[in-house]
Amino acid sequence: MKTIEINTARPYKVVVGSGLIGQTGELAAPLIRGRKAVIVAGSNVFPLYGEAVRESLERAGFSVCSTVYPAGEKSKTADTLVDILNFLAEHQLTRADAVFALGGGVTGDMAGLAAALYQRGITCVQLPTTLLAAVDSSVGGKTAVNLKAGKNQMGVFSQPALVVCDTDCLKTLPPEVYTEGWAEVVKYAFIRQGPLQELLLAEKPEERIEEIIAECVKIKRDVVTEDEFDLGTRQLLNFGHTIGHAIEKCSGYSWYHGMAVAVGMAMMIRACRKKGICDEECLEKAELLLKKFGLPQDCEYPAEALLEAAVSDKKRSGGTITLVLPESFGVCTLQKTPFEQLGELIALGKR
Ligand code: GLY
Repeated sequence: MKTIEINTARPYKVVVGSGLIGQTGELAAPLIRGRKAVIVAGSNVFPLYGEAVRESLERAGFSVCSTVYPAGEKSKTADTLVDILNFLAEHQLTRADAVFALGGGVTGDMAGLAAALYQRGITCVQLPTTLLAAVDSSVGGKTAVNLKAGKNQMGVFSQPALVVCDTDCLKTLPPEVYTEGWAEVVKYAFIRQGPLQELLLAEKPEERIEEIIAECVKIKRDVVTEDEFDLGTRQLLNFGHTIGHAIEKCSGYSWYHGMAVAVGMAMMIRACRKKGICDEECLEKAELLLKKFGLPQDCEYPAEALLEAAVSDKKRSGGTITLVLPESFGVCTLQKTPFEQLGELIALGKR
């Protein structure tokens, strides 16, 4: 088991290892004053791990109940959020009790927001079951639901009390959901130099998944402790996301987030290579790693459509957008860029 301490204003630990879901109760109990626990999960994940979490919490002395919503991004709404809040109230949770978010990014974001809002904030323990949630969304305290106006438009920053990442949960993921998680892993290797880069370049990285997740979490820890509220450095975590979000939007959200981010990174690196912003090694490593993890590097949408989708919800920010520009393998910078320049980069990034 690996433990990473996150020293945000409210510090907490991320533990990563095999078989940890069955230890949720003993790991969480010392952090929670009350003895009521609510498990929040999607209908796909609860049948797989709900009972293991319940048993573990009961062994640690909690009285446990569960609320299960229909799995998927469509459920990430204010209505589902209010259902969860009403569930907490009906079961008379107090501020001493806790919510356990069991699942991927949708569950973590939504249950995290419910915990942050209920009685002005109760304890939340994140139990990520996807690779994407393990390396990204469960850590750092971003919580949200979607509005008609867009994804994650209603939310707060609220750090969890603990993150328990059981690497065995990754074994039951649908193949595309596992693969899309690698895009966020690869992203970390492009924004920070360090051991993760060697781990990804070595043979059979999947066999060292515990170390890889821990290295990603360490990078996220460094970024988030420097800029908890996303005012500067934290935007480095958006590498590949501007074009990625545009691809998701153009596809009517039928593309997986991680797949879109992979193409976003590939396009940005190709464009920056053509403009002499990044070196040849950066491009070579991107092609190699994206291929190695089965991630796409192209999309069918024309440059004009991608630009329109990328800027449509940002028109009010004065005609500029902050882009994450790659300079070399492991080094990216933030640059405020006029929309026209983004258009040029998107066009250059197409193959
Ligand atoms: N997922 C990006 C962030 O946490 O800032």
